[in-house]
Amino acid sequence: MDYFLIQGGKRLRGVVEINGAKNAVLPIMAACIMCEGEVTLRGVPDLVDVRTMEHLLNQLGVATRREPGGVMRLKVEDEMNCHADYDLVRRMRASVCVMGPLLGRRHKAQVSMPGGCAIGDRPINLHVAGLAALGADVDLVNGDILLKAKRLHGAELFLGGPFGSTVTGTANVMMAACLAEGTTVIESAACEPEIADLAEFLNSCGARITGHGTPRVSITGVRQLGGCEHTVIPDRIEAGTFMMAGAITNGELRLRNCRLEHLLAVVDRLRAIGVNVEREDDEVVVSSARRLEPVDVTSQPYPGFPTDLQAQIMALLSLADGNSVVTEKIYPDRFMHVAELNRLGAKLRKEGPTVIVQGVKRLVGAQVMASDLRASAALVLAGLVAKGETRVNRVYHIDRGYEKIERRLRAVGAEIERQSTAEE
Ligand code: EPU
Repeated sequence: MDYFLIQGGKRLRGVVEINGAKNAVLPIMAACIMCEGEVTLRGVPDLVDVRTMEHLLNQLGVATRREPGGVMRLKVEDEMNCHADYDLVRRMRASVCVMGPLLGRRHKAQVSMPGGCAIGDRPINLHVAGLAALGADVDLVNGDILLKAKRLHGAELFLGGPFGSTVTGTANVMMAACLAEGTTVIESAACEPEIADLAEFLNSCGARITGHGTPRVSITGVRQLGGCEHTVIPDRIEAGTFMMAGAITNGELRLRNCRLEHLLAVVDRLRAIGVNVEREDDEVVVSSARRLEPVDVTSQPYPGFPTDLQAQIMALLSLADGNSVVTEKIYPDRFMHVAELNRLGAKLRKEGPTVIVQGVKRLVGAQVMASDLRASAALVLAGLVAKGETRVNRVYHIDRGYEKIERRLRAVGAEIERQSTAEE
């Protein structure tokens, strides 16, 4: 099992190229199930999750071919199999994104119910209710959700839940509705840029979607979708993570392929902390003064502060000059990083869905355990600044969402190495 060894204290300086967005490319790849004709995707990151999605699509009869420079070509070759089994859904929850496309195009989808995961309960009731509103019959068979519909029809439906809308649920309903008869209106649709990018992709294939990027999305069904070429939007979570890496090390990073307009809530909080974030030509320059101000942060659906950066900003705030309050409004249990950051000398106290962060002068290296993708990123950030050596175990989590993170951090001055151990 791989782990990272980090010698903290190096200022990061240099240029980082941001990759295509994981959470955009995964549903877009799934949407290819519906396309008659070849799809060419550009800006596809080389991530474990992308490989898992490729594997699943291959099982579902979609041929995938990678070419150098982040290009992927996908083409449906066989439409017989409609079953995404437990083994793959268990490994990656985004596997549920095949549900809408399978139902829309093949009229049947059997997808294993994803269980809970390290960030808490993650139900799919809203996905299922949305697809049922389009006319699908729903059954639970041996732990699988089985959806069937001879013909889907348009509907007006509401996708809000107790924690806001659902990102992949919106993706599923939007995809299925592309091939339904008539018009579907989704109220309380997720507004995340990744959903807007999926809609842009579908429209390039011949779909008729309007309102994407707003809470009211309208989809008029078409008979078929073709292929297209599409460039995936840059990963705003990766960009935000690198911004915090620059800030926590008092360094200066220049980010390329970074869409600042997708990160306004993050930039707002970073500036309040005292981090400089400026656009210079086609780069975003992030630098930080020595003193970090404490701030309050609440994660919310887009355009609010993303839950996927909550752990990372907590690492940064643990070194602020005073007390901060971090509240999680999407996944109230997404706090596995709290105890690990405390092992590095942070002073964090959890009170329900809130963490009180008492700023400390320094962090000190230790062994810590990554529990999920974003928590691992937070531990790496803390390790970059902790005095001495930090060992981050189980970095397979980070490989799911950040391509070659240690090499890219090393290229801008970090002392971080990947090592392997046979045991664990
Ligand atoms: N929810 C329901 N019912 C549902 C679906 C969701 O109650 O049917 C609740 C969830 O429990 C949660 C909230 O609604 O409290 C939002 O969940 P959502 O469905 O939006 O999450 P998701 O689509 O499963 C995506 C990202 C996550 C990201 C969340 C929130 C992908 C592949 N995943 O998950 O990304 O945290 O949106 O922004 O797009 C990550 O990249 O590390 C990651 C976990």
